[in-house]
Amino acid sequence: MSDPLRPRASLRTAVVWDVLKDALERRVKAAGRDALDVLDTGGGSGNFAVPVARLGHRVTVVDPSPNALFALERRAAEAGVADRIRGVQGDAHGLFQVIERGGYDAVLCHGVLEYVDDPAEGLRNAVGALRPAGTLSLLAAGLGGAVLARALAGHFTEARRALTDPAGRWGEGDPVPRRFTADQLTDLVTATGLQVGAVHGVRVFADLVPGVLVDTEPGAMDALLKLEAAAAEQPAFHSVATQLHVLAERD
Ligand SMILES: C[S@@+](CC[C@H](N)C(=O)[O-])C[C@H]1O[C@@H](n2cnc3c(N)ncnc32)[C@H](O)[C@@H]1O
Repeated sequence: MSDPLRPRASLRTAVVWDVLKDALERRVKAAGRDALDVLDTGGGSGNFAVPVARLGHRVTVVDPSPNALFALERRAAEAGVADRIRGVQGDAHGLFQVIERGGYDAVLCHGVLEYVDDPAEGLRNAVGALRPAGTLSLLAAGLGGAVLARALAGHFTEARRALTDPAGRWGEGDPVPRRFTADQLTDLVTATGLQVGAVHGVRVFADLVPGVLVDTEPGAMDALLKLEAAAAEQPAFHSVATQLHVLAERD
């Protein structure tokens, strides 16, 4: 049965949401409290923050965009969780100017390391916000997925450029400033002192199959979600995923 708290656009987020929800449940049991303090750094308009707050947790969203924070406030009110979500304008690099160090049971850093000036420093700060036994949920653009998508669209030169570019960009028009391999992401996490618990490939097939197949074939969406979930755990598919998710904890 589908999970009613799952964020919108579930095909894009299902794998991450399922992994995150399980991790938060484990953290709740370990902490012996009903509600956790969760930080969503670069949380934007609340794609994850709102569903996490609907689970009953207190969520602080730090984001530099006033527009995103305005949209977050509206979504939180619509979802009836305004009292559990706090939006704060700030930056991953100046995180401790706006929030407390070591004050959170879980930190989400989703779709942010691609954009920050220094991913290692941005991630160190995200981890610095964790309590001693804390959980990090890291999501970032995968290099291989972009190469595959460009090639399948017939943009072979752009695919090769992404493959050889140090930042994994396919050209000047590429809206994503940086992409990562699974090894690069896990190395960044390990360098912060956290232990990598699991790596999942996200959107292995979803961005490659024609939408019409998913929208018109009965049961196709559900079958694709199940396929994504099965492939996410297989290391062989990490190298072609559009995004990579890393779950990490302190020892
Ligand atoms: C792709 S969106 C992801 C939003 C949200 N985390 C999600 O998963 O839906 C990237 C977000 O990172 C924010 N961002 C950009 N640069 C940042 C920085 N230096 N520090 C923190 N957040 C940043 C943007 O404002 C935007 O909300």
